[in-house]
Amino acid sequence: FEYQAIVLAAGEGKRMNAGENKQFVVIGKKPLIIHTLDVFSKDPWCSSIILVVSRKDRDRIEDLLDRYKPSKEIKIAIGGAERQESVYLGLQAMENKDTIVFIHDGARPFVSTESLHLLAEAAYAHKAALLAVPVTDTIKQRNGQTLHTLDRKTLWAAQTPQAFQYDIIFNAHQRAAEDNFLGTDDTSLVERLNIPVEIVMGSYDNMKLTTPEDLKRAQAFLKR
Ligand code: CTP
Ligand code: MG
Repeated sequence: FEYQAIVLAAGEGKRMNAGENKQFVVIGKKPLIIHTLDVFSKDPWCSSIILVVSRKDRDRIEDLLDRYKPSKEIKIAIGGAERQESVYLGLQAMENKDTIVFIHDGARPFVSTESLHLLAEAAYAHKAALLAVPVTDTIKQRNGQTLHTLDRKTLWAAQTPQAFQYDIIFNAHQRAAEDNFLGTDDTSLVERLNIPVEIVMGSYDNMKLTTPEDLKRAQAFLKR
């Protein structure tokens, strides 16, 4: 199995409050984004990597790539104001369109090679798949004054990577842009076209680093 990866790093990391894009924050010995890129550059199933960054971070990212030299060549694309726009620009920058595409948050450095391979297998079999984990909290939905308790057995917390045949995810982004639909992940753009998506059991270790508390958890995770 083979896939191409789009790694997203064009956000600002506001909630991390680090005074810079959280992708540059060092965890363990390397910047966050280098941890994430290393997972893909070491995976033999990953045939190419597109890294999406903001224009203002471009030089600094290129310096990091020179310094840490991931084992695979990394192509840089410039992102947009919203995550969804960054993904669409990444898809447009991809040369080979006859492939499975993995879309991954730069802010999730701990995805395992085992998860990547399970996802790739599912993407080849089903054309669209994502990593997710069962929700452990009880989720309440409030409608005005009334509360509902959602059936936890049916709830999954979506992660990345999310994997698609190129034309499926490209068309889904094109349609979303036409309809001014802004989703919180890529799978939601495919769901609204009534295309089935396969869930692949991920790992709770594949956390997204969003807040300073997440950063502490990440440092502790690397130490053990
Ligand atoms: N991202 C992106 N382009 C954007 C916004 C986000 O490529 N316009 C990327 C981020 O760099 C991150 C991933 O999408 O790797 C998930 O987004 P999030 O965790 O929200 O990161 P930020 O948007 O950077 O953080 P915040 O929302 O706290 O500002
Ligand atoms: Mg964000």
